[in-house]
Amino acid sequence: MAARPILRLGVLISGRGTNLQSIIDAIERGELNAIIALVISNRADAPGLARAQKSGIPTRVIDHRRFGSRAEFDGALVEALNAARVELVVCAGFMRLLSPVILNAFPNRIMNIHPSLLPAFPGLNAQKAALEHGARITGCSVFFVTPGVDDGPIIVQAAVPVMPDDDEHSLSDRILAQEHRIYPLAIRLFQEGRLEIAGRKVIIRDAPAPDENEALLNPPRTALDIPRSGRNN
Ligand code: GRF
Repeated sequence: MAARPILRLGVLISGRGTNLQSIIDAIERGELNAIIALVISNRADAPGLARAQKSGIPTRVIDHRRFGSRAEFDGALVEALNAARVELVVCAGFMRLLSPVILNAFPNRIMNIHPSLLPAFPGLNAQKAALEHGARITGCSVFFVTPGVDDGPIIVQAAVPVMPDDDEHSLSDRILAQEHRIYPLAIRLFQEGRLEIAGRKVIIRDAPAPDENEALLNPPRTALDIPRSGRNN
């Protein structure tokens, strides 16, 4: 397969930027054939801005409070992203909903990450919601952004067990560690031209199938003394 050209990313943040850091690190390790052309924060005090600057990545602060409407704010985002010749927009802890202005400017070219196994627990405080619901397995999902909240076609997911003594922070930390693995992976699949959106599903070309008998159990198989394989034979 012919190598695909380097992908120009625009990363949108509002806060600490650990997912941004995982993308920077994947690029620096040579695992992702991309450059971050621009990081935009809607908050001037977002610690993620310093992470970008430390790696020599251009940053912009576009404060949503300066705009009269969501559409005008999104128009300013689109202008900045286009000026930086961004091809894929990556939301990484960006705490603003996106309007059709930006969705239409980057059709099927905006990704987001969410700390649950979607479609469970969309919206804010997903880790707390999973704990309160008594979920035994939760995780994280990378998806293409659509007008609905955390509703778009799912690209990659990772499952994370809930520990008996978990609180919101310990669970969030373990989910975050998996976020840092799957976001660079999803971007890489995009860069390699392997993602095709078919309705609300994403088809990944040339992806190895997971082991059909492999499942994460919680409590684990060993605690239940049940066979390794889920097959009925
Ligand atoms: C992550 O939990 C992500 O799933 C959610 O916002 C958080 C951002 O964290 N969308 P960070 O700013 O990347 O550290």
